Amino acid sequence: MINQETIQRIMDATRIEEVIGEFVSLKKRGGNHIGCCPFHNEKTPSFYVSPGKGIYKCFGCGKAGNAVGFLMDYEHYTYPEALRYLANKYNIEIEEERMTDEQRERQSERDGLFHVSEFAQKYFADLLHHDETGVAVGLSYFHQRGLSDDIINTFGLGYCLDEWSNFTDHARKNGYSDSVLEKTGLTVFRDEGGAYDRFRGRVMFPVYSISGRVIGFCGRVLTSGKQTAKYINSPDSDIYDKGHTLYGIYQARNAISRADKCYLVEGNVDVVSMHQSGVCNTVASCGTSLTSDQIRLIKRYTRNVTVLYDGDAAGIKATLRAVDLLFAEEMHVRMVLFPDQEDPDSYAQKYGSTQLQTYLKEHEEGFVAYKKRTLNLGDNEILDPIRKTEVLTDMVRSIALVQNPIEQQEYIRETASMLRMREDVLMQTLAKAIADMKRQAWKEEQREQARAQAAQSNPTDGQPGGAVPPPLEPTDDELDALYPTPEAATAPAQVLPDLRPAETQERKIVTLLINYGNAEVPQEGVDEKGNPTTFTCTVAQAIVAEIAGDELTFDNPVYQQIFDLYHQAIDNHQALPDANLFVTSDDTLLRNTALELMINKYNISKLWLERKSISIPTPEHNLRTDMEESILTFKQKKLDRQLENNSYQIRECKNDDDMLILIAERENMLSLRKAICERLHRVIV
Ligand code: CTP
Ligand code: MN
Repeated sequence: MINQETIQRIMDATRIEEVIGEFVSLKKRGGNHIGCCPFHNEKTPSFYVSPGKGIYKCFGCGKAGNAVGFLMDYEHYTYPEALRYLANKYNIEIEEERMTDEQRERQSERDGLFHVSEFAQKYFADLLHHDETGVAVGLSYFHQRGLSDDIINTFGLGYCLDEWSNFTDHARKNGYSDSVLEKTGLTVFRDEGGAYDRFRGRVMFPVYSISGRVIGFCGRVLTSGKQTAKYINSPDSDIYDKGHTLYGIYQARNAISRADKCYLVEGNVDVVSMHQSGVCNTVASCGTSLTSDQIRLIKRYTRNVTVLYDGDAAGIKATLRAVDLLFAEEMHVRMVLFPDQEDPDSYAQKYGSTQLQTYLKEHEEGFVAYKKRTLNLGDNEILDPIRKTEVLTDMVRSIALVQNPIEQQEYIRETASMLRMREDVLMQTLAKAIADMKRQAWKEEQREQARAQAAQSNPTDGQPGGAVPPPLEPTDDELDALYPTPEAATAPAQVLPDLRPAETQERKIVTLLINYGNAEVPQEGVDEKGNPTTFTCTVAQAIVAEIAGDELTFDNPVYQQIFDLYHQAIDNHQALPDANLFVTSDDTLLRNTALELMINKYNISKLWLERKSISIPTPEHNLRTDMEESILTFKQKKLDRQLENNSYQIRECKNDDDMLILIAERENMLSLRKAICERLHRVIV
C-alpha cells in the first residue's frame, strides 16, 4: 500500500553502506566497503558493499542484493516492512495509497488482536516474575525443568493464574473489548452468558510471528495426571493460523539461515531447551501436525531439515509422515532417532548441551538408514519375500514423492542395497508408484470438478421444491475406466547422451544482455536493393534476433527467464529491462542471478587486450566482437549437442528410412557448424 513515489524517495535517500553498516562492521576499501559476511561463517572478509551501485555481494556464499534485499534476507522483513524500516531511518513520511473503508476496518480489527495478544503476553510474563503464586508455581516449574531466566525471557514465557476470569477482568479494565478477547480466543464466552479465561493455572508459551509479534499462546498444565489436556492452544484467528506458523521461528530464523539447516522437534519445551543448549536453529509445529505451509516457511531460510521427533511408535509414525511432506516440498531430509522414552528436551536435561550436540551430529541419518533402524530389519526379514515386498512398497511410496530425479535415484540405490535387490526392479516399482500417484491426483481433480458442478447447478439458496438433484460424484471404478492411458509409465526413460548444460556460453550471453543491452553496435546487412550496408542496432536486438531466430533456448531456466524479458521488451517496443527491475524483483533466484551477472561483468577491453596484445580499439568494436563471438560460441555449443544426439540416434536407429533422415540432418548440421566456425574465425582473428 506504499505508493510508488514514496518508494522512489526511500530508494533515493538510502545509502546501502549505512544500512548494512548497522548490522555488519564494514571497512572502506577503495570505492567499496568490505566486511565479514553475515550470511555465512567466515574469518576473512569477502562481503562487498558498493555504495556507487547500491548493492552488496558476498563472494564467499554468493548472496547479493540491494538495501531492501539485505533487510529482507537478514532481518527477514517482507518487502513493505523493509521499506518502512528505511523510511523510518531516513525520516521519510510514508504516503499510503488510500485504503477502502472495509480495508481500514479490517486493518484496525487486526491491530486490535495484535494489541491484546501483546498485552496478554506482557501480563502473563509479569505474573511469572512478580506475582507471588506466579513465582512460587510457574517460575519454579520452569526452573525445575532446567530453564534459565535468560531463555525464559527470550521466549517471553509466562504464567496465568488459576482463577476463572483473572485475565479477562484485567483486560477489560484496560479497555480491551469483548470482541478482541473473543476473537483471539483468550476469553471464552458462554452461550448462556458469562465469560471465562481459556488459559487458567498454566505456564504460557507465547507464539510469535516471523516478525516477532505475539499471535497466539500454548499453555501447559503444571500438575501431571490431572483430568485435562497437557497442552491447550489458542484457536485460529485473523492473526493466528496454526497451519502457517512454527513455534520458535522468530527466535530461530537467523540461526536457520546461518546454519543452512533447521531442526524440527515435537514440543514447545523441546524448542526452548534446544535453544538453551545452543542449538538455536530449532522450531516445532505446535497444536497441529506438520503442514506443507509450515514447510514452506522453513524453505524461506533453508532446504535442509532434520526431524527430531520422539523415538516411540507415535513419533516414528509422525516422522515418516513429515518425511513424505518434506520430500514433496523438495526439501533435503535427515532424521535423528532418540533413545526410547527420550525427547530432545529430556536428553538435554539428562546429559547436558555438549552431549546433546554430539548426539545430534553422530546419530543423524538419511531416510533409508532411518527406515532400516526403525523397522528393525534383520537378515531373516530381509530374506522373507513377503516382508520384503511390504517394506519395499512402503518405502518406494515415499521415494516417489522426491522431486529431484538424482536424489530419487540415490534413494532407490540405497534401498536396493539395503533390501539386496536389483535396482531396475525397484525402478519399476517406482514408476508404478508414480503412475498411481498421478492417477490418484487425477481422480481427486475429477471429483472436485464434479462437486463444483454440483454446487453450481444446485445453489444452496435455490428453491427447495424446484431443486434439481445434484449429479452424483463419479465412483472409483467409473473414474478408473475413464483414466487416460498413462504414458508408458514403466518404459525406461530415453537417456540422451549429453545433458551437460552450455553454462559458460549461456552465462556470457545473458551478461551481455544485462550489462550492455542498450549499447549500440554496428551490424552488416543488405539494403532494399540487396547491396551490403552497415546499420546500427542495440546489443539486445542483435542477440535476440540471432537466438530467437534460430529458436535456440537456454538450459538454465533463470537465463531463459532473463532472455525472455528482453525478447518481450523488444517485440513490444518497450524499454529494455533495467538494473532496477531485477534488483527489486521479488523472485529471489532471478534477483540474485541478475545481480551476480551485474557485479561479475568482465572487463571487455581487458579481455580483448590480453588476447590480441594490440592497441586499444574503439569500445564499440570490442563490444561488437565480443557479442558476436559469444553468440557464435553459444550456437556452436548447441549444435555440438544436437550432433551428439544425432550420432546417438544413428547408433540406435533400426530403420533405413529414419536413418536416411538422420544422416541428412547430420549433413545439414555439419555444414551449419562449418559456417559458424568460419564466422567465428573471422571474428576472433
Ligand atoms: N501438543 C499440543 N500443543 C502444543 C504442544 C504439544 O497439542 N502446543 C501435543 C502434541 O500432539 C504433541 C504432544 O502434545 O505431540 C506432546 O508434546 P511434547 O511436548 O512432545 O510432550 P511432552 O514431552 O510429554 O511434554 P513436556 O515436554 O512439556 O513434558
Ligand atoms: Mn518433553
